[in-house]
Amino acid sequence: MADNKHYSHWKPLTDAEGILWLHLDQQNSSTNVLCVPVLEELETILVEIKSSHLPSGVVFVSDKESGFIAGADIKEFTVIDNVDQAVKHVQRGQRIMDEIAALKCPTVAMIHGYCMGGGFELALACDYRIVDDGPTTRLSLPEVQLGIHPGFGGTVRLPRLIGAPAAMDIMLTGKPINARKAKKLGMVDYAVPTRQLIPATKKTIMDHPPLHQPTKMQALTNHMLIRPILKQMILKTVAKKARKDHYPAPYAIIDLWAKYFDDPVKMLEEEAKSEARLVIGPTAQNLIRVFFLRETLKALGKTENTNTNFKHVHVIGAGVMGGDIAAWCALRGFQVTLQDRHEKNIAKVMKRAHKLFSKKMRGNRLGIIDAMDRLQPDIKGLGVPKADVVIEAIVENIEAKQGLYKELESRMKSDALLTTNTSSIPLEVLSTVLKNPERLVGLHFFNPVAQMPLIEIVTANNTSKEVAERTAAFATQIDRLPLPVKSGPGFLVNRILMPYMLEAVRIHEEGVPASVIDKIALQFGMPMGPLALADTVGLDICLSVAGILSKELDVTVPESLKKMVEEGKLGAKSGSGFYEYSEGKQVKPEKTESNVDSHSLQDRMIGRMINESVACLRESVVANKDQLDAGVIFGTGFSPFRGGPLNYAQSEGYQSYQTRLSEMEKNHGTGFKPDSGWEKLA
Ligand code: NAI
Repeated sequence: MADNKHYSHWKPLTDAEGILWLHLDQQNSSTNVLCVPVLEELETILVEIKSSHLPSGVVFVSDKESGFIAGADIKEFTVIDNVDQAVKHVQRGQRIMDEIAALKCPTVAMIHGYCMGGGFELALACDYRIVDDGPTTRLSLPEVQLGIHPGFGGTVRLPRLIGAPAAMDIMLTGKPINARKAKKLGMVDYAVPTRQLIPATKKTIMDHPPLHQPTKMQALTNHMLIRPILKQMILKTVAKKARKDHYPAPYAIIDLWAKYFDDPVKMLEEEAKSEARLVIGPTAQNLIRVFFLRETLKALGKTENTNTNFKHVHVIGAGVMGGDIAAWCALRGFQVTLQDRHEKNIAKVMKRAHKLFSKKMRGNRLGIIDAMDRLQPDIKGLGVPKADVVIEAIVENIEAKQGLYKELESRMKSDALLTTNTSSIPLEVLSTVLKNPERLVGLHFFNPVAQMPLIEIVTANNTSKEVAERTAAFATQIDRLPLPVKSGPGFLVNRILMPYMLEAVRIHEEGVPASVIDKIALQFGMPMGPLALADTVGLDICLSVAGILSKELDVTVPESLKKMVEEGKLGAKSGSGFYEYSEGKQVKPEKTESNVDSHSLQDRMIGRMINESVACLRESVVANKDQLDAGVIFGTGFSPFRGGPLNYAQSEGYQSYQTRLSEMEKNHGTGFKPDSGWEKLA
């Protein structure tokens, strides 16, 4: 085979031992993906290999420093619009993998860094897999996270290689596997230090050892008599995490294996058909949309401004939020000083931080010690003059915050960011005490900080654009998604969430049990019911946010909520709210029969949220529809498979959704009056 000829992405090089090294270095891309041009070239190369003198072995290797192959090109999924086209696309990939598997010489995938999706399926088609045992090596089949499943033979080859339980776990969760675990499971043949990769690969080709076989136990899990039993067990676990009508892909993976395992040729055919059906379906298309929305938000953190080399963060207020924000920043590698009026509050945070670090850095004792070192109690505020970013997270009180800013402004570095975590006070009000009001910016985290990926970057009319951009850059540096929003009541996320939660409270007032209401929201795909969420946030906090919104928007605060707070029923923290709690855990409510019209109740709760989304878009609280959907998905967990509230309304038909709201307005009040923004959308 002629080396180095006419290929844009692949570089075939034959060495002195006659081994053909197929280097993948995708043109104009920092990562290798199996896009159509890369696959087309590979197809041609495989034909050439077969038609010329057979090499002593073929090695697939990536020339990208970061890793092997990151899977398929997700952009290509968005232009497929019918099943036939999708089947053809998948079958081409399958054919190529089959060609690799059928080569009459030993084949090796020599892997470093990430090896995902189609990239791992290519490795599975090789005789041997040899990986770098370094910490960056990660193998995964993450397709399920995009609403699809492996399509290039992965569902067929992986259970054969390592048995069903491990293979199903990898495909159903999409989670990455490190080198050591991959070796233990039998996903790879050798895990070796970087310097040994090439020698180990050459030796494997020369020695041609017997191919990896699953253990007897692993093989037994695929037996036709075991499969039906195991299938039921796996289905039970999956059903707890995802409903079939919302997320069909995991169920399709289980079905393929249970029905067709004994006939690999048929299984491959069915894999292609199933994958094709999924990829053009609404769940996959919406999850792919969410993937790109995440990329859009990440890109908002990129700026031409070079003054983004943040190192030291000073947090003021060691409460629920400030404490967790400080710990999170230390975890992400920043030097952090934490100030509070009370030493005991800081001490509590240090304990909580240790717990977080231990959870996130399992077993990495030195890493945990380093993170604890980076987080320094600072009762006197000595960190202020050194900090690049100051985050204020003290009580939600205008005078307290303003008093603090007056003192901070003269002590801070002139270019340090002055940010506030306020969840409701307009920035215009807070900044009046500053000599340079344009430097104050909102950095609105969500609770719990370590789990919520979004941060609202809140700006008032007078906030400096440069400050806002640098703040967004900081958000991405701490691995969070920045969403620029205009300062206004509830900003974006709380403003949209609150009418939905209050509608749930009203339905509860009408006599529908909390567990029934929450179940209806879960059926829509919300991650948590609105009343369980209210209990978690704290009913006093809900009441205060509702009060603020009610001053400027068409939001009425339900009497029952006021009464519960007066009675000291504040939710989980007080042991009682819409549910009862014992040691912080919800006491399972008794099963209640309820003859409610779930569809209409669901419409009422979700309708409020959608109508408020339209209002926010009309008022330009965010820049556009995509950013609104992204904010609501990443800030509230809004059913990702629906692609966001506005995407959902669009899929239902803007016009018909507006009519539905008008109907609801007749029966349930002016809160449902379609916002004037609908006209523009329709
Ligand atoms: P918190 O009451 O738990 O903590 C406030 C802390 O600030 C206390 O430790 C207090 O001792 C300290 N503090 C008060 N005045 C101070 C001063 N002048 N100097 C130094 N320390 C002072 O409050 P939480 O819930 O953490 O809220 C803090 C901020 O974050 C508020 O603006 C709130 O609106 C906002 N927020 C709260 C969320 C939540 O779920 N709790 C979510 C998002 C934002």
